[in-house]
Amino acid sequence: MLLNASGCLDALTAPDVARSLDGFVTKTVTPLPRDGNEPVRIAETDVGMLNSIGLANPGIDRFLTRNLPHLAKLGVPLWVSVGGFETDDYAEICLRLDDHPEVAAIELNVSCPNVEAPADSTAQIVAAARLTTRKPLWAKLSPAVPDIGEVARAAQASGADGLSLVNTVRGLKLDERTLRPALGPVQGGLSGPALKPIALAAVATSYHATGLPIVGMGGVQSGQDALELIAVGARHVALGTVLFADPDAPARVRAELHAAAAEHGFNNYDDAFAVAVHEPLSVGTTLDVGSNV
Ligand SMILES: Cc1cc2nc3c(=O)[nH]c(=O)nc-3n(C[C@H](O)[C@H](O)[C@H](O)COP(=O)(O)O)c2cc1C
Repeated sequence: MLLNASGCLDALTAPDVARSLDGFVTKTVTPLPRDGNEPVRIAETDVGMLNSIGLANPGIDRFLTRNLPHLAKLGVPLWVSVGGFETDDYAEICLRLDDHPEVAAIELNVSCPNVEAPADSTAQIVAAARLTTRKPLWAKLSPAVPDIGEVARAAQASGADGLSLVNTVRGLKLDERTLRPALGPVQGGLSGPALKPIALAAVATSYHATGLPIVGMGGVQSGQDALELIAVGARHVALGTVLFADPDAPARVRAELHAAAAEHGFNNYDDAFAVAVHEPLSVGTTLDVGSNV
Protein backbone atom coordinates (compact mmCIF):
# COMPACT_ATOMS: atom_id res chain seq x y z
CA MET A 1 0.00 0.00 0.00
CA LEU A 2 1.33 3.43 -0.98
CA LEU A 3 0.28 6.33 1.27
CA ASN A 4 1.26 9.96 1.74
CA ALA A 5 3.13 10.98 4.88
CA SER A 6 1.04 13.12 7.23
CA GLY A 7 1.33 16.85 6.55
CA CYS A 8 2.87 16.42 3.10
CA LEU A 9 -0.28 16.48 0.97
CA ASP A 10 -3.39 18.63 1.11
CA ALA A 11 -5.99 16.32 -0.41
CA LEU A 12 -8.59 19.06 -0.67
CA THR A 13 -6.41 21.20 -2.94
CA ALA A 14 -4.79 18.25 -4.76
CA PRO A 15 -7.51 15.56 -4.86
CA ASP A 16 -6.03 13.82 -7.90
CA VAL A 17 -2.74 13.24 -6.09
CA ALA A 18 -4.63 11.82 -3.13
CA ARG A 19 -6.61 9.53 -5.44
CA SER A 20 -3.36 8.20 -6.91
CA LEU A 21 -2.53 6.74 -3.48
CA ASP A 22 -3.95 3.65 -1.78
CA GLY A 23 -4.92 5.72 1.22
CA PHE A 24 -4.78 9.33 2.36
CA VAL A 25 -3.28 10.32 5.73
CA THR A 26 -4.46 13.68 7.10
CA LYS A 27 -2.29 16.34 8.66
CA THR A 28 -2.20 15.83 12.42
CA VAL A 29 -5.42 16.98 14.09
CA THR A 30 -5.40 18.32 17.67
CA PRO A 31 -8.33 19.01 20.02
CA LEU A 32 -8.24 22.79 19.50
CA PRO A 33 -7.44 24.75 16.32
CA ARG A 34 -3.79 25.75 16.00
CA ASP A 35 -2.30 28.49 13.87
CA GLY A 36 1.08 26.81 14.12
CA ASN A 37 4.47 28.43 14.55
CA GLU A 38 5.64 31.85 13.49
CA PRO A 39 7.10 32.12 9.96
CA VAL A 40 9.55 31.25 8.41
CA ARG A 41 8.30 27.64 8.64
CA ILE A 42 10.09 25.88 5.79
CA ALA A 43 13.71 25.96 4.65
CA GLU A 44 15.62 23.92 2.10
CA THR A 45 18.92 22.35 3.12
CA ASP A 46 21.52 20.44 1.11
CA VAL A 47 20.11 17.13 2.31
CA GLY A 48 16.38 17.75 2.64
CA MET A 49 13.77 20.07 4.05
CA LEU A 50 13.45 21.66 7.49
CA ASN A 51 9.94 22.45 8.68
CA SER A 52 8.49 23.94 11.80
CA ILE A 53 4.80 24.07 10.90
CA GLY A 54 3.89 23.49 14.55
CA LEU A 55 0.83 21.32 13.95
CA ALA A 56 -1.27 24.03 12.27
CA ASN A 57 -4.73 22.47 11.90
CA PRO A 58 -8.43 23.36 12.23
CA GLY A 59 -8.98 21.37 15.45
CA ILE A 60 -11.19 18.31 15.77
CA ASP A 61 -14.57 20.14 15.68
CA ARG A 62 -13.99 21.85 12.37
CA PHE A 63 -12.14 18.83 11.03
CA LEU A 64 -15.21 16.66 11.59
CA THR A 65 -17.75 19.16 10.26
CA ARG A 66 -15.80 20.76 7.39
CA ASN A 67 -12.90 18.56 6.27
CA LEU A 68 -14.01 15.00 6.81
CA PRO A 69 -17.15 15.16 4.60
CA HIS A 70 -15.01 16.39 1.67
CA LEU A 71 -12.22 13.91 2.33
CA ALA A 72 -14.75 11.08 2.43
CA LYS A 73 -15.72 11.90 -1.16
CA LEU A 74 -12.19 11.20 -2.39
CA GLY A 75 -12.98 7.51 -2.48
CA VAL A 76 -9.68 6.40 -0.89
CA PRO A 77 -9.31 4.95 2.62
CA LEU A 78 -8.78 7.76 5.13
CA TRP A 79 -6.26 7.65 7.92
CA VAL A 80 -6.58 10.44 10.46
CA SER A 81 -3.40 11.56 12.18
CA VAL A 82 -4.06 12.48 15.80
CA GLY A 83 -1.89 14.68 18.00
CA GLY A 84 -2.00 16.39 21.34
CA PHE A 85 -0.09 17.62 24.33
CA GLU A 86 -1.51 15.27 26.92
CA THR A 87 -2.71 11.71 26.90
CA ASP A 88 -6.32 12.84 27.25
CA ASP A 89 -6.07 14.85 24.02
CA TYR A 90 -5.39 11.69 22.05
CA ALA A 91 -8.10 9.73 23.83
CA GLU A 92 -10.67 12.46 23.24
CA ILE A 93 -10.03 12.68 19.49
CA CYS A 94 -9.98 8.91 19.05
CA LEU A 95 -13.31 8.67 20.82
CA ARG A 96 -14.82 11.25 18.48
CA LEU A 97 -13.45 9.52 15.38
CA ASP A 98 -14.66 6.10 16.45
CA ASP A 99 -18.24 6.67 15.21
CA HIS A 100 -17.16 7.75 11.73
CA PRO A 101 -17.16 4.79 9.36
CA GLU A 102 -15.34 6.87 6.74
CA VAL A 103 -12.22 6.81 8.95
CA ALA A 104 -10.30 3.64 8.10
CA ALA A 105 -7.48 4.01 10.60
CA ILE A 106 -5.94 6.34 13.16
CA GLU A 107 -2.27 7.29 13.25
CA LEU A 108 -1.16 8.51 16.67
CA ASN A 109 1.48 11.18 16.17
CA VAL A 110 3.53 10.66 19.30
CA SER A 111 6.65 12.08 17.71
CA CYS A 112 6.36 15.68 16.51
CA PRO A 113 9.72 17.37 17.21
CA ASN A 114 8.29 20.92 17.17
CA VAL A 115 6.22 20.61 20.32
CA GLU A 116 7.05 19.01 23.63
CA ALA A 117 7.36 15.45 22.30
CA PRO A 118 5.64 12.83 24.42
CA ALA A 119 7.93 10.08 23.15
CA ASP A 120 8.51 8.64 26.59
CA SER A 121 4.76 8.35 27.15
CA THR A 122 4.06 6.39 23.98
CA ALA A 123 2.71 3.47 25.94
CA GLN A 124 0.38 5.67 27.96
CA ILE A 125 -0.98 7.43 24.88
CA VAL A 126 -1.54 4.24 22.91
CA ALA A 127 -3.21 2.55 25.87
CA ALA A 128 -5.56 5.52 26.41
CA ALA A 129 -6.43 5.68 22.72
CA ARG A 130 -6.99 1.93 22.63
CA LEU A 131 -9.70 2.23 25.27
CA THR A 132 -11.68 4.70 23.17
CA THR A 133 -11.69 3.24 19.67
CA ARG A 134 -12.00 -0.01 17.78
CA LYS A 135 -10.27 1.43 14.75
CA PRO A 136 -6.82 0.22 13.74
CA LEU A 137 -4.23 2.25 15.64
CA TRP A 138 -0.84 3.05 14.14
CA ALA A 139 1.75 4.62 16.40
CA LYS A 140 3.99 7.08 14.57
CA LEU A 141 7.35 7.11 16.29
CA SER A 142 10.34 9.39 16.32
CA PRO A 143 13.67 7.79 15.41
CA ALA A 144 15.40 10.23 17.78
CA VAL A 145 15.27 7.97 20.80
CA PRO A 146 18.05 5.83 22.30
CA ASP A 147 16.29 2.53 21.55
CA ILE A 148 13.43 2.61 19.08
CA GLY A 149 12.89 -1.11 19.53
CA GLU A 150 11.92 -0.48 23.12
CA VAL A 151 9.44 2.25 22.16
CA ALA A 152 8.01 0.02 19.43
CA ARG A 153 7.53 -2.83 21.91
CA ALA A 154 5.83 -0.43 24.35
CA ALA A 155 3.41 0.68 21.62
CA GLN A 156 2.68 -2.94 20.75
CA ALA A 157 2.10 -3.95 24.37
CA SER A 158 -0.35 -1.06 24.73
CA GLY A 159 -2.46 -2.16 21.80
CA ALA A 160 -1.01 -0.60 18.65
CA ASP A 161 -1.96 -2.52 15.50
CA GLY A 162 0.93 -1.10 13.53
CA LEU A 163 3.79 1.40 13.48
CA SER A 164 4.53 4.36 11.24
CA LEU A 165 8.25 5.04 10.96
CA VAL A 166 9.77 7.59 10.90
CA ASN A 167 8.89 11.16 11.75
CA THR A 168 11.36 13.97 11.17
CA VAL A 169 14.47 14.58 13.28
CA ARG A 170 15.36 17.94 14.79
CA GLY A 171 17.64 20.16 12.72
CA LEU A 172 18.87 23.73 12.42
CA LYS A 173 19.76 25.79 9.38
CA LEU A 174 21.63 29.07 9.50
CA ASP A 175 21.35 31.89 7.01
CA GLU A 176 24.81 31.85 5.39
CA ARG A 177 25.10 35.62 5.41
CA THR A 178 23.77 36.54 8.86
CA LEU A 179 24.52 33.27 10.67
CA ARG A 180 21.04 33.57 12.17
CA PRO A 181 18.46 30.73 12.05
CA ALA A 182 16.62 30.38 8.76
CA LEU A 183 13.43 29.25 10.53
CA GLY A 184 11.32 31.51 12.73
CA PRO A 185 11.13 29.01 15.61
CA VAL A 186 14.90 28.40 15.20
CA GLN A 187 14.84 24.59 14.95
CA GLY A 188 12.63 22.34 12.86
CA GLY A 189 12.10 18.78 11.67
CA LEU A 190 14.43 17.49 8.98
CA SER A 191 12.83 15.38 6.25
CA GLY A 192 13.89 14.10 2.85
CA PRO A 193 16.96 12.16 1.63
CA ALA A 194 18.96 12.47 4.87
CA LEU A 195 16.29 10.47 6.65
CA LYS A 196 16.53 7.36 4.49
CA PRO A 197 19.33 5.53 6.40
CA ILE A 198 17.66 6.54 9.68
CA ALA A 199 14.33 5.19 8.47
CA LEU A 200 15.88 1.92 7.29
CA ALA A 201 17.49 1.36 10.68
CA ALA A 202 14.31 2.27 12.57
CA VAL A 203 12.12 -0.01 10.45
CA ALA A 204 14.59 -2.92 10.67
CA THR A 205 14.89 -2.61 14.44
CA SER A 206 11.16 -2.11 15.07
CA TYR A 207 10.12 -4.95 12.78
CA HIS A 208 12.57 -7.24 14.51
CA ALA A 209 11.36 -6.08 17.94
CA THR A 210 7.63 -6.43 17.27
CA GLY A 211 6.75 -8.13 13.99
CA LEU A 212 4.02 -5.48 13.67
CA PRO A 213 2.93 -4.16 10.27
CA ILE A 214 4.93 -1.00 9.51
CA VAL A 215 4.39 2.01 7.25
CA GLY A 216 7.93 2.91 6.24
CA MET A 217 8.76 6.51 5.36
CA GLY A 218 11.67 8.90 5.40
CA GLY A 219 13.43 10.17 2.30
CA VAL A 220 11.62 7.94 -0.17
CA GLN A 221 12.17 9.39 -3.62
CA SER A 222 12.26 6.34 -5.85
CA GLY A 223 10.97 2.80 -6.20
CA GLN A 224 14.33 1.49 -5.06
CA ASP A 225 13.98 3.49 -1.82
CA ALA A 226 10.54 1.96 -1.28
CA LEU A 227 11.84 -1.55 -2.03
CA GLU A 228 14.61 -1.13 0.53
CA LEU A 229 12.11 -0.19 3.24
CA ILE A 230 10.04 -3.26 2.37
CA ALA A 231 13.13 -5.47 2.48
CA VAL A 232 13.83 -4.40 6.07
CA GLY A 233 10.27 -4.93 7.28
CA ALA A 234 7.84 -2.28 5.99
CA ARG A 235 4.48 -3.59 4.77
CA HIS A 236 3.50 -0.19 3.41
CA VAL A 237 5.40 2.88 2.23
CA ALA A 238 4.55 6.58 2.56
CA LEU A 239 5.73 9.49 0.45
CA GLY A 240 6.47 12.77 2.18
CA THR A 241 8.79 15.55 1.07
CA VAL A 242 9.02 14.15 -2.46
CA LEU A 243 5.36 15.15 -3.00
CA PHE A 244 6.20 18.86 -2.73
CA ALA A 245 8.58 18.64 -5.69
CA ASP A 246 6.83 15.91 -7.65
CA PRO A 247 3.06 15.48 -7.38
CA ASP A 248 3.34 12.60 -9.87
CA ALA A 249 5.56 10.70 -7.43
CA PRO A 250 2.88 8.12 -6.45
CA ALA A 251 2.52 6.76 -10.01
CA ARG A 252 6.24 7.05 -10.69
CA VAL A 253 7.36 5.38 -7.45
CA ARG A 254 4.80 2.62 -7.96
CA ALA A 255 6.13 1.89 -11.47
CA GLU A 256 9.74 2.07 -10.29
CA LEU A 257 9.00 -0.20 -7.35
CA HIS A 258 7.49 -2.76 -9.66
CA ALA A 259 10.55 -2.60 -11.94
CA ALA A 260 13.01 -2.67 -9.03
CA ALA A 261 11.30 -5.72 -7.49
CA ALA A 262 11.44 -7.54 -10.83
CA GLU A 263 15.12 -6.61 -11.25
CA HIS A 264 15.84 -8.24 -7.89
CA GLY A 265 14.02 -11.37 -9.04
CA PHE A 266 10.99 -10.90 -6.77
CA ASN A 267 7.64 -12.07 -8.11
CA ASN A 268 5.76 -9.76 -5.77
CA TYR A 269 6.26 -7.50 -2.77
CA ASP A 270 5.75 -10.38 -0.36
CA ASP A 271 8.99 -11.86 -1.73
CA ALA A 272 10.80 -8.61 -0.97
CA PHE A 273 9.26 -8.49 2.50
CA ALA A 274 10.39 -12.07 3.05
CA VAL A 275 13.97 -10.79 3.06
CA ALA A 276 13.15 -8.96 6.30
CA VAL A 277 11.53 -12.06 7.76
CA HIS A 278 14.32 -14.50 6.90
CA GLU A 279 17.36 -12.23 7.08
CA PRO A 280 16.57 -9.67 9.80
CA LEU A 281 19.13 -6.91 9.89
CA SER A 282 18.83 -5.62 13.38
CA VAL A 283 20.24 -8.66 15.15
CA GLY A 284 23.45 -7.64 16.84
CA THR A 285 23.41 -4.14 15.38
CA THR A 286 22.07 -2.59 18.56
CA LEU A 287 25.39 -3.50 20.20
CA ASP A 288 27.05 -1.03 17.86
CA VAL A 289 24.79 1.88 18.66
CA GLY A 290 26.98 4.82 19.61
CA SER A 291 30.15 3.36 18.21
CA ASN A 292 31.99 5.02 15.35
CA VAL A 293 32.51 1.94 13.24
C1 LIG B 1 5.91 20.15 5.85
C2 LIG B 1 5.76 18.91 6.67
C3 LIG B 1 4.71 18.77 7.55
C4 LIG B 1 4.58 17.61 8.32
N1 LIG B 1 3.52 17.48 9.17
C5 LIG B 1 3.36 16.34 9.88
C6 LIG B 1 2.22 16.15 10.72
O1 LIG B 1 1.32 17.00 10.80
N2 LIG B 1 2.14 14.98 11.40
C7 LIG B 1 3.10 13.98 11.32
O2 LIG B 1 2.95 12.93 11.97
N3 LIG B 1 4.18 14.13 10.51
C8 LIG B 1 4.32 15.28 9.80
N4 LIG B 1 5.41 15.42 8.98
C9 LIG B 1 6.40 14.33 8.88
C10 LIG B 1 6.11 13.42 7.68
O3 LIG B 1 4.84 12.82 7.82
C11 LIG B 1 7.19 12.32 7.55
O4 LIG B 1 7.18 11.52 8.71
C12 LIG B 1 8.59 12.89 7.35
O5 LIG B 1 8.55 14.04 6.53
C13 LIG B 1 9.54 11.85 6.76
O6 LIG B 1 9.20 11.50 5.46
P1 LIG B 1 9.87 12.21 4.15
O7 LIG B 1 11.36 12.23 4.37
O8 LIG B 1 9.47 11.35 2.99
O9 LIG B 1 9.29 13.58 4.06
C14 LIG B 1 5.55 16.57 8.20
C15 LIG B 1 6.62 16.72 7.30
C16 LIG B 1 6.74 17.87 6.54
C17 LIG B 1 7.89 17.99 5.58
